[in-house]
Amino acid sequence: MSSIIEIKNVSKEFKVLNRREGLKGSLMDLFSRDYKIVKAVDDISMTIEPGEIVGYLGPNGAGKSTTIKMMTGVLEPSSGEILVNGKIPYKNRTENAQQIGVVFGQRSQLWWALPLIESFKILKDIYMIPDSDYNNMLEFYKSLVDIDDLLHKPVRQMSLGQRTLSDILAAFLHNPAIVFLDEPTIGLDVSMKAKIRTLIKGLNKEKKTTVILTTHDMGDVDALCERIVIIDHGKMLYDNDIEHLKGFFGSYRTLKVRVDDDLKVESEIIQGEFEDLQVTSDDEWISILVDEDKIGVIDVFGTLQKTHKISDMQIEEISTEDVIKKIYEGGVK
Ligand SMILES: Nc1ncnc2c1ncn2[C@@H]1O[C@H](COP(=O)(O)OP(=O)(O)OP(=O)(O)O)[C@@H](O)[C@H]1O
Ligand SMILES: [Mg+2]
Repeated sequence: MSSIIEIKNVSKEFKVLNRREGLKGSLMDLFSRDYKIVKAVDDISMTIEPGEIVGYLGPNGAGKSTTIKMMTGVLEPSSGEILVNGKIPYKNRTENAQQIGVVFGQRSQLWWALPLIESFKILKDIYMIPDSDYNNMLEFYKSLVDIDDLLHKPVRQMSLGQRTLSDILAAFLHNPAIVFLDEPTIGLDVSMKAKIRTLIKGLNKEKKTTVILTTHDMGDVDALCERIVIIDHGKMLYDNDIEHLKGFFGSYRTLKVRVDDDLKVESEIIQGEFEDLQVTSDDEWISILVDEDKIGVIDVFGTLQKTHKISDMQIEEISTEDVIKKIYEGGVK
């Protein structure tokens, strides 16, 4: 089986104006322009197999969107080679469009004034989708998520979540081999995120669509990705299974406790008591990340019990969220 995406030693540099500060600086900029080179993507190589869902992760400014833009043919690499389904994306933009779908979160590609179904009909013509394929895809969409209300709504009247959902439906409509999703769940509520994950998962499973996904939401990763690629400052830090990555943190446990008092206040008190540990809280639990090579979970729990009224507790392996946080902070050897 040959790879559907091949990226070899790809870099992308941008030339940006080095702006000087203040009025004097602006005047100096007018007369002598001082440029610097930003290496947005720095010597990245990877191959992606058909049918994979790959989480492409990294902190803000890491180079994720730039990589996606190169894979979709919007940007040309400064150096290196990219093949998407055997073709060079920026040289074969029309052909490339037939085999890929793209969603850049928050920036809709749909016709603003038209009801969604009319946008679909235009896409059907553009991509020359046969009637039967088109109808089957609509039926399949309906089996995954409720779209009846959406179809007749103009895009401009939609909420952000409905619009994103519509964009994703539109990107998959011509049954492309690969779909690129750049932060598809950004700004969405819990239930819309769940719908979008169901949709992506269902399409990947049924149509064998290869999916490249960037996200800052580790819930997306847990729900969708076996494999993750992490980049930072344009450089690749990690490329493997998420479970493999968690293996590096085998001595870590998450101690979760429930208390009857205000969780946020209590978690801040606990953080004060355990300065070296990371303490967070949500609606239900206070979570304390413990490295058992340094201190036992039971010791931490014992100390807590002396000063806090704990009503329930649970011990879990390290979460994806915490693993990724650790990688961003310190990298993995
Ligand atoms: N057109 C451009 N001109 C100049 N610099 C750019 C351009 N596009 C991106 N950059 C720079 O390249 C780097 C990588 O940006 P990119 O948008 O790829 O990051 P990202 O990983 O998608 O971040 P985020 O999570 O915030 O979306 C950043 O330093 C950014 O400022
Ligand atoms: Mg981005």
